[in-house]
Parts: sequence; structure tokens; C-alpha cells
Amino acid sequence: MKDSAKAVHWLTRRELAKAALAAGGAALVPRWLCADESVEFSGAASLRAHAAARGMLYGAAVVPELLDVDGFAAGTTTDAYTRLIAEQANILVAENAMKWAALRPAPAVFDFNRADKLMRFAELAGQKVRGHNLCWHESLPGWFKTTATKENARQLLVEHIRTVAGRYRGRIHSWDVVNEAIEPKDGRGDGLRKSPWLELIGPEYLEIAYKTAAEADPAAKLTYNDYGIELDTPEETAKRAYVLMLLRRFKARGVPIQAVGIQSHLQATPPQPGAGLIAFIREARTLGLEAYITELDVNAHKLPGSPDLQDAAVAAVYRDYPRMVLAEPNVPVLLTWGITSAHSWINQSKEPWARRPDGAWQHPLPFDDDLRPVPAFYALRDAIDAAKPLVAQPPATPTTQTNKPNDLYKPFAVPGSPTTKPQ
Ligand code: XIL
Repeated sequence: MKDSAKAVHWLTRRELAKAALAAGGAALVPRWLCADESVEFSGAASLRAHAAARGMLYGAAVVPELLDVDGFAAGTTTDAYTRLIAEQANILVAENAMKWAALRPAPAVFDFNRADKLMRFAELAGQKVRGHNLCWHESLPGWFKTTATKENARQLLVEHIRTVAGRYRGRIHSWDVVNEAIEPKDGRGDGLRKSPWLELIGPEYLEIAYKTAAEADPAAKLTYNDYGIELDTPEETAKRAYVLMLLRRFKARGVPIQAVGIQSHLQATPPQPGAGLIAFIREARTLGLEAYITELDVNAHKLPGSPDLQDAAVAAVYRDYPRMVLAEPNVPVLLTWGITSAHSWINQSKEPWARRPDGAWQHPLPFDDDLRPVPAFYALRDAIDAAKPLVAQPPATPTTQTNKPNDLYKPFAVPGSPTTKPQ
């Protein structure tokens, strides 16, 4: 499908740029549209170097199985993906390798092979690692449905978090402790998703998860991560409000949390994120939270037109969105969900939200299948350059809760925890 889409003759990027030049003059032609693909993109020209120069982290979700870690350690790897990841990112996250299904093949068996591989690589390459994730309604192992009960679910969750976060204690930049816990469509007053965790444990599963993660790895920034909170549509505005309610509730109850993750699976077509998201990031800041862009990619499945038009529309989002969010001083981290179109979950999915009616392959990420930069790369790099350099964060407006968490903290039972009072 990909090849047939490529075989059609569409306007090339250069032809487009020429047409735009003819129509409006040089000032109207954005730099990324003219991007000369022979332009340097490695070393000092990489996203990693540009992010570092701004004092921020740029990174990507990776598939550890694809990394030639031994070759990289020996300085002999010729693997292009391995080299690209090392060169472009200063923070990594496992696309799937740290999820329950990957780590826990049986209730009492943990398999850390792939996760360890990622940690080793990142440490060799001088990169930080985000942990993703400790508690989610998806990616649960097959055994979970038949094994987890109201009686043992707390134990399973606590044990999992202690084992996983404990194993990498002190080596993780930030943990997505709970992923995607809000779903207003499920109709609850608190907006909580009717996930297996909610059904088995009740709403306190969230606090149990954060408290346990804080004990297991006190250095990691504990994050709440969610999607569908970026736009100013009624649906996303409502979901964002529920997420904010949850964050406020956490803060009021002294739940240990330091950041909110905004996944940012965006569309190439309007509407785009705007004032609502910025207000949310500022609210997070007043709560003392950082905000991370955790899973950026740009989906062009609804966009008619040639591959070059798609690239231009995707690049426009990579130009505007990071520029908007990186202007906020509590946004020091941006990751894309993958780095090349060859490994993007969008191209791998057969779902209608990912498939183009014309079957064309997408370029949702900064590099293409051949590991060449696409216009999104240049747009993102320019946006990073345009962002104000990060300086030491001014202290967040103090909340009365942060100093004395235990006074406001409704105790809950963490099985076997020495520090938890019984209910
Ligand atoms: C996705 C992966 O990219 C896929 O390979 C996997 O099949 C399903 O999960 N939100 C998240 C990520 O938090 O973990 C998801 O990753 C994408 C949506």
C-alpha cells in the first residue's frame, strides 16, 4: 500500500515551495517547506543538541528489541536506528516494554529483559528514561482477567509497583504511575474511568499507586498521563477539567505527584490545541506540577492530498504546537511517540483512526522510513530553538497541603506497607 501510494506523482516539496514562491514571494514560504534534505541533522544539528542548548529534554518512544546495545557499547554498531536514537534523543521511553503485559508473563513471574536492555542503552548513551507505565486499564497480561479479584488486586498492584519501580530506583526521570484514568463518557461524577483497577479496588487505587511508587523510587517524578485533553472541543475541554479536578484532589490529599503528562496524539487537520491547554498547563504550575509532552505524533488520516501536502500539514503542527507549549516555563520535556514512520503505531494500526482512505503511509514523526528527516523534523527543531531557554523554576505558589501531607491525607491500606496506618 505504501509503495502504491509512493508511485503516484504528487507535487514534490520543492515544486510546492516553488509554487508558493511564485504565488506570494519568499517571505511566505516557511523554512521547513524548503528544507533541503542534504542539510545536516546529526551532531550539533540534532534535536538532542538543540534541546540541550535550550535546557530541555527531547526524546522518543523506542522498541528495545531493535537496539544494537552490544554494538553500541563496543562503539562498532552500524545499525541506523540505534545510531539515530542515540544521536537525536536525550530521554527515552519504552513504547511497550515497561507495560504490565511485557513485564509480567505470569502473576509471580517478571521478565525484565527488554526493559533492562533499554535502561542499559540509555545509560550508555547518556540519556534519561521515562517509565511508562505502572497502572493502566490496557496492556494487562492475559492472566489478569481470570486471576485478579477484589481480594488480591491491591496486593497485585502494590507488588508490581514495588518490584518494577524498585528495580530501577534512582535511574528513572519520571514514572507514568497511572495512565488514562479519566473517561467522562463512563458517567461517574468524578470522571474516573471504569477500569479494572477501579472496579476491583475502588477510587483509592490511584492513591495507592502513587504512594507505593513514591516509596519505591523517591527520586522519580511521579506523573499522571492522559490523552484527549489537548483541544478546545467540548469533549476534550470536559475531560481536561476532570483531569484537573483529579490533580487538585491529589494535591489536597497530599498524594505524591510531580507532573502531568499530556500525550499529544494530534491530528494534522483542525482543530488544534489552544487557550484551554495553556490554561491547564498554568493551573498545573500553580499546583507545583511540571507538564510533559509525552507522546507527540501527528495523524494525517483525515487529510486529503499528496504525501508532500501531508508532510507540510504535519510539519505545521510540529511548528505551532511545541512553540505554544514550550513557551510555558513548566514544560521542560517533549517526547514523540516513536521517531520514524517505519515504527509508528499509526502506520502499524488497522483502525479507522489511523488508516487513510487512500491507503497512503503516514509521516507522523520527525524521520521517515529511511531515517531521513521529514519537514516535521525541521519544524520541531525550529520550535525548540524559538523556545525561551529554561532557567531555574520559580517556586510554585505554595499550597497549604504540600508541607503537611499527612494531616490531609485520608489513610488507605497498602498491604504490607510499614508506613501506612490501617484504615
Ligand atoms: C501503544 C503502542 O504504541 C502500541 O504499540 C501498543 O500496541 C498499544 O499502545 N497511549 C499510551 C501508549 O499511553 O502506551 C500507547 O502505546 C498509545 C496511546
